[in-house]
Amino acid sequence: MAVELETLETEIESLEAETLRAVAEATTLDALRSVESRVTGRNGTLGSRLQSIKDYPPAQRGQVGQLLNHAKMRFAKIFADAADRIRASEAANEAHRASSFDPTLPGVRPALGSLHPVTHVQWQVEDVFQRLGFIIETGPEMETEYYNFEALNIPALHPARDMQDTFWLNNGMLLRTHTSPVQVRAMQRHGPPLRVLAPGRCFRYETVDASHENTFHQVEGLMIDRHISIANLIAMMKLLLREVFGRDVRVRLRPGYFPFVEPGFELDMNCAICDGTGCATCKQSGWLEILPCGMVHPNVLRYGKIDPNEYTGFAFGLGLTRLAMMKFGIGDIRVLNRGDVRAIVSPERLTGPTIKSVD
Ligand code: DAH
Repeated sequence: MAVELETLETEIESLEAETLRAVAEATTLDALRSVESRVTGRNGTLGSRLQSIKDYPPAQRGQVGQLLNHAKMRFAKIFADAADRIRASEAANEAHRASSFDPTLPGVRPALGSLHPVTHVQWQVEDVFQRLGFIIETGPEMETEYYNFEALNIPALHPARDMQDTFWLNNGMLLRTHTSPVQVRAMQRHGPPLRVLAPGRCFRYETVDASHENTFHQVEGLMIDRHISIANLIAMMKLLLREVFGRDVRVRLRPGYFPFVEPGFELDMNCAICDGTGCATCKQSGWLEILPCGMVHPNVLRYGKIDPNEYTGFAFGLGLTRLAMMKFGIGDIRVLNRGDVRAIVSPERLTGPTIKSVD
């Protein structure tokens, strides 16, 4: 009997040693639980021993029961302590993960600014025309009456001057009302043949509302060579609109009056918003007036010291501000001139036209 009890005691001791080792290796609660059920579970090593107390002769049951029940309590403490340790280390890991700083990871990219919508379309137009051999000229914003009007075939007292409400300056000069004065400046400076693009700010004495500003952007284009015709003009305008809108654009020409071109046209494009079916933007017409243009008037060539019998040319004046509004669906011109963050062109919008294709 004493021998049997001793054997049982040794068995329990070695089970305890083995269990401590297994428990030390368990790093998760699940792993710990499986060790626990192997040992103290109903069919576990110690568990099944406990079940068999009743099989001992009544005289031994007391001692065996005491031995096994003490063992059971020690094992329970081993598992409880191990569970506490695992929980504590999981919590510590979590806290470490949350606070850890890895200096080898790439940094957080600062948000970049973006181009102003007008700059965006201006660069796009410049890009198209530079590929076609056009040079970029700017010209002064404070302009003389001569270049802004006179040399463009708009003499003093000509009613066409009234079409452009002008900021006159005390020094007798003015703020240019359009980019067209760069035409004659460029002719005089470079001579024929000539391909010039002149983007820039223009000013008019306007009451500001959703579609009028006292400061806006235009880009002037001028091409002078032998045998330049209206066909060249239309081809260039279609190319320009195709590049800006990312698709073929239908256009129509209507007669338009500008003293510095003859014939002069209003070039309309199929409304990009409604695909030509009629909407508020195109005033239900399906067309948008976008590009005034024409064949350079012989008088203007003469002012530019170019012989109209030898050379012809076309010119156009594109409203960059309007173009940006159309391209990006901006309904109020004031947003563009007031540093309003709503005017920021997001990178996604820069990559593709927002307007769906007609064809
Ligand atoms: N300068 C004109 C304006 O601002 C626009 C214009 C019309 C420019 C016809 C041109 C042109 O070059 O040919 O109203």
